Amino acid sequence: MKLFIDTANIDEIKEVNSWGVLSGVTTNPSLIAKEGRVFEEVVEEITKIVDGPISAEVISLQAEGMLKEARELAKIHKNITIKVPMTKEGLKAVSVLSKEGIKTNVTLVFSPNQALLAAKAGASFVSPFIGRLDDISTEGIPLIKDIVQIFDNYSIKTEVIAASIRHPMHVIESAKAGAHIATIPYKVFLQMLNHPLTDSGIERFLKDWEGVKTK
Ligand code: E4P
Repeated sequence: MKLFIDTANIDEIKEVNSWGVLSGVTTNPSLIAKEGRVFEEVVEEITKIVDGPISAEVISLQAEGMLKEARELAKIHKNITIKVPMTKEGLKAVSVLSKEGIKTNVTLVFSPNQALLAAKAGASFVSPFIGRLDDISTEGIPLIKDIVQIFDNYSIKTEVIAASIRHPMHVIESAKAGAHIATIPYKVFLQMLNHPLTDSGIERFLKDWEGVKTK
């Protein structure tokens, strides 16, 4: 499973990228708004840090508007992936963009049928939002399993991004469910890294080392 970071914060991206674990970045309008910067400039800066798909979302609701935004964003860098909402208009835009060779990530996916439609329209990625399902007392992980199984059954090339990840167990369960990618917030990356036995183990080694003679 590849790991993407779900943020538009440059420091967070640089930090996790320096660990050597990042394969891509996803942003969304809320994450971009949090940074208080010019959208296109943030996205361009990200492309200079991470060599992998960088999702940038369109905000038009009509296919024509989405296509206009998408074509402009795609000019920024070859790694820009256009995030399109899972709507009729979104599917129309995805279908055109895939024929133009522009990568797309269909976002706000909450059912296997939505994922299937997105894949048939030519999406490069689909993003089922597991945390937002959990938020409304509906288990998110089975959605990942269903989509992966359907795509496997028909050798569909569209990759499944487990999105809306809220905690480390979401990452483990997404990997077990066969998600191709998990897009993970910075806070969760830090949680994945930490273990109290690692900390106490280092402390013990350093303490014992105090009594060791070295050259
Ligand atoms: C995915 O690409 C989205 O940016 C993201 O995972 C949404 O997460 P949220 O539900 O925590 O806002």
